[in-house]
Amino acid sequence: MSSNSLTITDNRTNRTFTLPIENGTVRAMEFRQMRTSDDDFGLMLYDPAFMNTASCRSSITYIDGDRGILEYRGYPIEVLAEHCTFLEVAYLLLFGELPNEAELKNWVNEITHHTMLHENTKQFMENFRYDAHPMSMLVSTVAALSSVYPEARNVHDAANRLRQIKRLIGKMPTIAAMSYRHSVGFPYVYPDNDLNYTENFMNMLWRMVEPKYAAHPVLARALDILFILHADHEQNCSTSTMRAVGSSLADPYLSIASAAAALSGALHGGANEEVLRMLDEIGTKDNVPAYIKRVKDGHGKLMGFGHRVYKNYDPRAKIIKWTAEQVFEVTGRNPKLDIALELERIALQDEYFVTRKLYPNVDFYSGIIYQAMGFKPEIFTALFAIPRTVGWLAQWQEMITDAEQKIVRPRQIYTGQRTRSFVPMEERHGASMVK
Ligand code: CMC
Repeated sequence: MSSNSLTITDNRTNRTFTLPIENGTVRAMEFRQMRTSDDDFGLMLYDPAFMNTASCRSSITYIDGDRGILEYRGYPIEVLAEHCTFLEVAYLLLFGELPNEAELKNWVNEITHHTMLHENTKQFMENFRYDAHPMSMLVSTVAALSSVYPEARNVHDAANRLRQIKRLIGKMPTIAAMSYRHSVGFPYVYPDNDLNYTENFMNMLWRMVEPKYAAHPVLARALDILFILHADHEQNCSTSTMRAVGSSLADPYLSIASAAAALSGALHGGANEEVLRMLDEIGTKDNVPAYIKRVKDGHGKLMGFGHRVYKNYDPRAKIIKWTAEQVFEVTGRNPKLDIALELERIALQDEYFVTRKLYPNVDFYSGIIYQAMGFKPEIFTALFAIPRTVGWLAQWQEMITDAEQKIVRPRQIYTGQRTRSFVPMEERHGASMVK
């Protein structure tokens, strides 16, 4: 018997099973052979919120949550943030290798020429309510692109997939910027193909009457670094959504819209907006201890703290803190930074946070930089969705081409009643609709 195996005795039957261990996992389907009778379905694994279930093999992103390590295709995030542009990293995530000079030039050119939206899509966006949240607009507009590119549903055609991938990466900043301009009542700005990816995004957000927008190079580079940090994070909630929806062979626009919807929640990409609200609520450094006490007493969470995988400092938060210094030299210091630093200082010494291994995550400092750069909190999650689109697409492509993957379909433990007699209307007691 291989030592790389797990032996289990089913005490109900006294039968013993030996399961192979591969990559530190056993296959859940092996448990189905553990049955008490011929008509027994077999053992299942119960894992709400997928705390300990690997759903795929992936060669895209590596995280060691205990040591605070993050790598894309084997390259440490710190190295990529220092030396690469966002589109270079996008190429790496999608194709597995860093591009050479000619490949990068061609890639940037291709993405740049997919930044325009069809005028119909622009008109579609104009019809949202005047104060629509940019994330609601972004999710709906990306879904609507499915009607503009119906051929996208041919997800098994590699060339067709690549065309949609380029379109999505090119158009995401345009959609995010137009969503923002709509929410503040400004006319939409068309893409400027002379500018690089992040500069063009800043142009579409902030250009007013000047004939040509000139982004501050330090701020444009800071945004590019933030995009690199957010580009992928393996099987998080939105990426798992992308894979799950994509596994039904839905087209990539609908799958990205679903992933972006998952991202919008306050526990995921919506956290950066919530951090700013929390810092506003705290108001001054002196109020930090009382706020922390409130959290420990069970009233809310410290937003931007904690992570399912990182039980150490999130490496992205470290790079963001460093980037913040560069940004503040241009914009002046955001006074909220002092409250955030005080929160971090007290929390990292507090037994509640120490024993639970709760550290600042990527969202803790990102909002403070974004605000200093002039972004309003409502656009923060869209700032996350733009780069994460690359990760979603890389993971989707990996899923589609993985022979082991099928339509996602978890099991359940049924806890309801069985085969009841029908109750006529006049005999029903009803049920409270509020649970
Ligand atoms: N503030 C206070 N307590 C917390 C926090 C927090 N931010 N996060 C976790 N805890 C406590 C939690 O109450 C639990 O305590 P106990 O064991 O006494 O019940 C313990 O720590 C373990 O937490 P959990 O809820 O089981 O952890 P999880 O892996 O299910 O949740 C999380 C991870 C990120 C959803 C959670 O830490 C959280 O809600 N953080 C705040 C929201 C946030 O910053 N989200 C952004 C995540 S990073 C970027 C991204 O994914 O988009």
